[in-house]
Amino acid sequence: MTSASQQATHHADIVPREHLDFKLNEDIPRFWMGGDPFKTRFFDAMSTLFPVGEKFFIISVREYRDRVTDPKLQREVRDFIRQEAQHTLVHKQFNDRLQAQGVDIEYITNTLEQDLIIEAPKVTTAEQRLAATAALEHLTSMMCTCFFERRDLLKDSDPRVRAMYAWHAIEEGEHKAVAFDVMDKVARSSYWRRILPMIGVSIGFPITVARIMHHMFVVDGFSFWQRLGLWARGLWWFWRPGGLFIPTLGYYFAYYKPSFHPWKVKEMPSYGDWVQNFARTGDPIAAGNALHAAGQ
Ligand SMILES: [Fe+2]
Ligand SMILES: [Fe+2]
Repeated sequence: MTSASQQATHHADIVPREHLDFKLNEDIPRFWMGGDPFKTRFFDAMSTLFPVGEKFFIISVREYRDRVTDPKLQREVRDFIRQEAQHTLVHKQFNDRLQAQGVDIEYITNTLEQDLIIEAPKVTTAEQRLAATAALEHLTSMMCTCFFERRDLLKDSDPRVRAMYAWHAIEEGEHKAVAFDVMDKVARSSYWRRILPMIGVSIGFPITVARIMHHMFVVDGFSFWQRLGLWARGLWWFWRPGGLFIPTLGYYFAYYKPSFHPWKVKEMPSYGDWVQNFARTGDPIAAGNALHAAGQ
């Protein structure tokens, strides 16, 4: 039988990029997305999840590493791990900024570490954790691909933070199939073993992000009524027709097709513009600007 991955057509190289400087120690506005607290804190909340989340991904894939026999997939697993480790390093730097603003990064990290790294292995199988990783990698690549299509979304953002997310998005696009391929070719997970964890993370992930955003709004000093207004406007921004999430639904639901493979869904727009600019300048902020400018 042909596996889903054997039918996929395109493949980007997975290039780990190290020692990147996004100048995150400079003076960056608290609400770096055009002064908008809701949009800013949505992305900030995700940043707080990355260090432990990516550790969970690395551990989940590494558990199958010894059983990967295909040399190409072996290399991809190695480079996937290297990329995720770099993302963690940079997001930790960014999260230090949030900690200085009063966000309880330590509590968020410790809670997540307890849930994902300590408790999850007691109640789930390695196959389930790998499938959860593949599902979360799909949600990540969905956001990277669909958000960077929206030039208006990041238009007024601080170029340094935008560049950090652009780089992260580029690399998530490059390695988006690795966890899936290990699940498909090595763990040989059935359709339902792939889909059920996706349903679980599709519920758990937004709830976790919302709880962290709530904490951030309290830290920011917004009153109850101000927070209610932020959520009302923010949820409309998410869910209105043509809003942030409606255009991602096709990408999201593609995962539920039995023949799904990550390389069958659309790729990140202007990927080549970022890669070319970074190759020429070696400057991730210039590359981030080029990525943003390319689609204008
Ligand atoms: Fe990542
Ligand atoms: Fe990833």
